[in-house]
Amino acid sequence: MSQQLTIALSKGRILEETIPLLREAGIEPVENIHSSRKLIFETNRADVNLVVIRATDVPTYVAFGAADLGVSGKDVLMEYGGQGLYEPLDLNISKCRLMTAGRVGGPEPTGRLRVATKFVEITKRYYADQGRQVDIIKLYGAMELAPILGLADRIVDIVDTGRTLKANGLEPLELITSVSARLVVCKSSMKMKHALIQPILNDLEEAVAKASAD
Ligand code: ATP
Ligand code: PRP
Repeated sequence: MSQQLTIALSKGRILEETIPLLREAGIEPVENIHSSRKLIFETNRADVNLVVIRATDVPTYVAFGAADLGVSGKDVLMEYGGQGLYEPLDLNISKCRLMTAGRVGGPEPTGRLRVATKFVEITKRYYADQGRQVDIIKLYGAMELAPILGLADRIVDIVDTGRTLKANGLEPLELITSVSARLVVCKSSMKMKHALIQPILNDLEEAVAKASAD
């Protein structure tokens, strides 16, 4: 039987920027991904399917081999930890920064810092590397509220234009890492389906170079 490839795409803003790169690499869904309620999409290539899932679930599907390839933000990959995944290509899309932030002109916190974030693992590692003990408060969204309502001294969140922070009386403080979307490959798929995967990696690499030159 001929081999099949499944590519897991992150729903939301990464998807918008991934579709043109895939198209340039010769892979196009046969129906409109944005208007459909489907989760699995056939493409113009009989051997390639796309699945569209929550950004945070992409590394899990790929690491377990349920999808062979995936597209995921560096922030999500760092939080996941990277087991079972190769990360061969920076797609140079969905660029932003992961930063600490606090209230504009807020007092320098005394004692143990309280940090609210959905990036618990990254935050733990960031402060541990500084030898700083912090209390981490897990949130699922609207992190900006936490310092305003006194839930936390700092947040760790994505910053792009900085508008969200500014609109909420916060300012960016320290850069934790620059973020962009990456192509990830299941380690076992890379071995078992190398002949199918490698040309796609090459085509995507060319598509990224072309998009970056435009
Ligand atoms: P979920 O669906 O799991 O709640 P989400 O709401 O964070 O995820 P998006 O807002 O689409 O989903 O963000 C997905 C990814 O896009 C993030 O993990 C990050 O890599 C990148 N990203 C998030 N916000 C921005 C931004 N303002 N500008 C550029 N890239 C961003
Ligand atoms: C993301 C992120 C920040 C914001 C940063 O939120 O969580 O809140 O973008 O972008 P900015 O610096 O340009 O303001 P998003 O718009 O995806 O909404 P969300 O809270 O639903 O994830």
